[in-house]
Amino acid sequence: MIQVAVMGYGTIGSGVVEVLEVNRDRIAEKTGQEIAVKYILDLREFPGDPHEEKLVHDFSVIEKDEEVQVVVETMGGVNPAFAFVKACLMSGKHVVTSNKALVAAHGTELLEIAREKNINFLFEASVGGGIPLIRPLTQSLAGEQIQEISGILNGTTNYILSKMAKEGQNFETALRKAQELGYAERNPEADVEGFDTCRKITILTALATGREVNYEEVSTEGITWITDTDFKYASVLNTSIKLFGTSRVEGDNVSVYVCPMMIGPDHPLFGVNDVYNGVMVRGNTVGTVMFYGSGAGKLPTASAVVSDIVEIAGHLADNIAIGWTERKQELMPMEALSYRYFIRFAGTAKEKLPDIQAAFGKVETAELPGMDEFAVLTEKMPEKRYRKLAAAFTDIRQMIRCDL
Ligand code: HSE
Repeated sequence: MIQVAVMGYGTIGSGVVEVLEVNRDRIAEKTGQEIAVKYILDLREFPGDPHEEKLVHDFSVIEKDEEVQVVVETMGGVNPAFAFVKACLMSGKHVVTSNKALVAAHGTELLEIAREKNINFLFEASVGGGIPLIRPLTQSLAGEQIQEISGILNGTTNYILSKMAKEGQNFETALRKAQELGYAERNPEADVEGFDTCRKITILTALATGREVNYEEVSTEGITWITDTDFKYASVLNTSIKLFGTSRVEGDNVSVYVCPMMIGPDHPLFGVNDVYNGVMVRGNTVGTVMFYGSGAGKLPTASAVVSDIVEIAGHLADNIAIGWTERKQELMPMEALSYRYFIRFAGTAKEKLPDIQAAFGKVETAELPGMDEFAVLTEKMPEKRYRKLAAAFTDIRQMIRCDL
């Protein structure tokens, strides 16, 4: 029997206990042994909960119990999760986490401790919710040189943008609904300002390059400034607007960024809507592979946590190589990257277009009936050049980068 402790009995933690129960027989068959939850750590009381007798409030009970072999961390946030996880690893316990903030900030150190102790620190659920993504990246694609990862990595913002695009819902209504459905972070700023996507693309990039990526160096924009007018143009142009986390690797040149992106129907991520996440990975010999599924929510995320517990059951006495080292990865500045740009100008196309074309070169235009503005789509150019050209115009209302 493998004894497990679950730290954090919120949405994901209670989901883990549920998945272990619902799939108990299948898991026992697969691992050849029973997985039993011995402790649940939480500050709160859960009167009447069927697992109430497993509840503890003192972390040291778990830390000191030598029977506990695997600890699941579903508390979220960096403190006290980091201290608890580190202490568990130091005392020789395998750790599984869904906590992207923890992995992005301290993954290098925690993986190093796990290697030294010949145990495992696994985090499949930290990116893409229920989508198997980290194990395919570190195992199935281990022999590839990863050239690009582009993903819709946040269910909450994808849900909001989908509702804005399809139902004309406003931002607040869609966010409230996402919170009710249990998709959003405790602080929704982490979702809508792009911080959650930033942590996730940081983790994926570290796994792809094998080097530590500092998430604070990742250029990050959220979706709070995207408006219903942008979606009206997107509809006219037969495009969509999605929040992308992207990393591109060209030799030693690695760029990582998070920003809303206008994409067309031929983009592989165009059809990824609602709470779903989609991730496109391009390798030098495999070409493009796609991952798609529920990117947030109780049971999908818990399913990914349980997959790590099952993986550990087969590696109780050895460390699974993940390939994320202590070497630091330099990142290219966003200004060096090239995109097409969707730009909205105040005024009329008839009056302004000659100046715009003189500056930006060939552009496509789009107009909405009855609006005192119009939009253009430029050709591809480095962001540095775009910024220089745009500085000469005082009538720009909006700019969205495009992958068209
Ligand atoms: N708030 C996150 C999301 C949860 O919406 O994707 C899953 O990481």
